[in-house]
Amino acid sequence: MDEGGVSAQNTVMIFDTTLRDGEQSPGAALNVDEKLEIARALEEMGVDIIEAGFPISSPGDFRAVQRISQEIRGCTICGLTRANPKDIEVAAEALKDAARPRIHTGLGVSDIHIQYKLRTTREEALERGVAAVKHAKKFVEDVQYYTEDAGRADPDYLYPVLEAVIAAGATVVNIPDTTGYTTPDEFGALIRGIVENVSNIHKATISVHCHNDLGLATANTLAGVFNGARQAEVTVNGIGERAGNSSLEEVVMAIKTRRDIFGLDTGVNTRRLYPISRLVSQLTGIPVQPNKAIVGANAFAHSSGIHQDGVLKERTTYEIINPRDVGAPDSAIILSARSGRHGLRHRMVELGYTLDEEQFEKVYQRFLEVADKKKTVDTRDLEAIIADEVQVFFEETYHLEQVQISCGNRSIPTATVRIRGPNGELFCDADHGTGPVDAVYRAINRIIGEQNELIEFSVQAVTEGIDAVGRVTIRIQANEPVNGVERPVFSGHGSDTDIVVASAKAYMFALNRLIAARREAEKWMSK
Ligand code: KIV
Ligand code: ZN
Repeated sequence: MDEGGVSAQNTVMIFDTTLRDGEQSPGAALNVDEKLEIARALEEMGVDIIEAGFPISSPGDFRAVQRISQEIRGCTICGLTRANPKDIEVAAEALKDAARPRIHTGLGVSDIHIQYKLRTTREEALERGVAAVKHAKKFVEDVQYYTEDAGRADPDYLYPVLEAVIAAGATVVNIPDTTGYTTPDEFGALIRGIVENVSNIHKATISVHCHNDLGLATANTLAGVFNGARQAEVTVNGIGERAGNSSLEEVVMAIKTRRDIFGLDTGVNTRRLYPISRLVSQLTGIPVQPNKAIVGANAFAHSSGIHQDGVLKERTTYEIINPRDVGAPDSAIILSARSGRHGLRHRMVELGYTLDEEQFEKVYQRFLEVADKKKTVDTRDLEAIIADEVQVFFEETYHLEQVQISCGNRSIPTATVRIRGPNGELFCDADHGTGPVDAVYRAINRIIGEQNELIEFSVQAVTEGIDAVGRVTIRIQANEPVNGVERPVFSGHGSDTDIVVASAKAYMFALNRLIAARREAEKWMSK
């Protein structure tokens, strides 16, 4: 970077860590194809760097970093490591086909981390960090160094660490507020202090990585940017460890909407923010809260009469962002069975979905079913159909053909299911349970016999009204290790106007995902 480059540069690099820190959210496990799909969407949206995983952590992570490196050419691809030679070598191997590879290594800098986690001294930790950067430099030019828990570190130790790792060749220095402890003023001052006190800081880009434990992640990230950081580490929908990371859509839209304050730009095509938010939510099984800024279902809804009146007179009275600028769909556009294939195809294109013939046909058949029951189908129904029929990145081993339930206040909830197996054979079985969903899950278990524990179950209405499509999201936990992970969690979702049928679809989705993950692991083990 040029002399004085830290604050002279007027573009903020967007470093997306949805696939690494985001995937650390409990139960957000994604398979390699799902990660690749998200990486493609991130590339298309214009993020600068994708942190694709932590290669040494599991074979699945290694393969994800490897595949993303091979296929995504428009972004820098980054792999996380600890500060030791083995981690760095494994990351270098996973990244070797990337057009622009980056190794992200580092170590704690707060006394709490040095004393209790690393059980070492400040001096020793600094030496290990420098050695890690030098080792990473043997494999790639672009090395990013994270100073874990910088938010609680002593600046008089942080400054020399940064000076030393930059002198060793770090091109980016990451200042994480790992525990989400700082306030915006404090975090901004920390970044300003680095700009003013680290003598060689002009040779590196300052990156900020903030967690949301006090709900301040976005505010802290922006304070960092305001004070000289030129890379922001974010995740789609703000998912991540504990309360999450700063959210990509909030940081990007704050920089864009308040250009008068920041005087900065990002390379992100903001019209892709809403679609990618929905994609990540579908694939991780983590719903977007309705009042979530920028991408929540209510982010542009005006319910009070006074507000509605104002917006109708002049949109800007109560809207600081045009919903179209973030790609939020207009749910007022509705279709019916009479819209036909042509109408549906046209709407799909408008919503940014490119479907091949086979996918389109599946969507069309489901669309007709929903239109038959509900009469009208709006954007939210279409999104639920797409999630069930198109955004499925694993091979379906068992297919649910039929569910039949009998229940009521004086009957024993009983379910019969018919399932098609891997070789086309039909299985039929029945069981009873404490309620209809329990009965269905037991009947499915009798056929598939995949040991697991149901750890989360939720139902949401996709749209308003008594005839709404219900969307069920569940998480199941495998009873044994899969793909190097102790007891991985798999999410599943399903939608239908009948919520028991939606529950059965969600369970089948999660089970098929578990079976596919195990099969993929076995395939790799045998290579
Ligand atoms: O929060 C954190 O400190 C991290 C580092 C590994 C970058 O995620
Ligand atoms: Zn983090």
